Amino acid sequence: MTITVLIDNVLPPNSHYLVAEHGLSFYIETENKKLLCDTGASGNFITNAKAMAIDIARCDFTFISHGHNDHCGGVSHFLKTITQQKVYMHNDIPCEQYYSSRREEKKNISCDNVIFKEHESRIKFINGTQQIDENIFAIQCNEDKFSKPYGNCFLTKSNGKKEILDDFKHELSLAFVTPKGLVIISPCSHNGVLNIIEECRKATGCRKIHAFIGGFHFIESEKCIAETEKFSKYILTHFPDTLFYTGHCTCDTSKDILSRRLKNITFFKTGTVIRI
Ligand SMILES: [Fe+2]
Ligand SMILES: [Fe+2]
Repeated sequence: MTITVLIDNVLPPNSHYLVAEHGLSFYIETENKKLLCDTGASGNFITNAKAMAIDIARCDFTFISHGHNDHCGGVSHFLKTITQQKVYMHNDIPCEQYYSSRREEKKNISCDNVIFKEHESRIKFINGTQQIDENIFAIQCNEDKFSKPYGNCFLTKSNGKKEILDDFKHELSLAFVTPKGLVIISPCSHNGVLNIIEECRKATGCRKIHAFIGGFHFIESEKCIAETEKFSKYILTHFPDTLFYTGHCTCDTSKDILSRRLKNITFFKTGTVIRI
């Protein structure tokens, strides 16, 4: 299985032919499927795919992990450029607006609702955990045994009547059942990496986690050191053999701690190719 990071916040040195942005998009190839997971914040992921000689028109489908525009901002560009494939996403996304109050000014970080009118027939809505292809599951996380990222406290959602703290029911992860164990792709992990792992285990019946790939949503804050240390400790004792790959919303302070505490962690950037 190969996962190529089409776009991430960080551009590695000497990658002038690629662009970075605050967003995430993966191109995934399994033995018999090709798919996209998320589309970054704009059409830049399409430009990067071309630069890396990846033909996204040949994908079987596209999967959107949640309703934040750093993950679904590129969907409208994608639907206009590529005219065939279906796009999977949670069915709460067209009914909700999402906001971030992390910076001084409150920002609307929702997906562009025009896509639901213009490309209605191409969007397939998912209402909870379901198998979407052979050995590929979309997982909605209802597990809350472990703490969720501190950064969630700046994020709200509104159904037009009432604005509440986001509970991230609109977030879906991908779980691939492979001979080596589960491979989990969770681009922003708002439900918490450990909760998502437990939910994927329950939903698929597969206990062994071969790899976990995605942002951990550990943002620069006064809580970041404590939450990363606690997480690292748990990983050391419970998942010493699982391969972790992170970037996007895992902040530099967290990356520094994770790199010192864990051996089984790799940091991805725009253009990284992960072979597992
Ligand atoms: Fe997010
Ligand atoms: Fe994100």
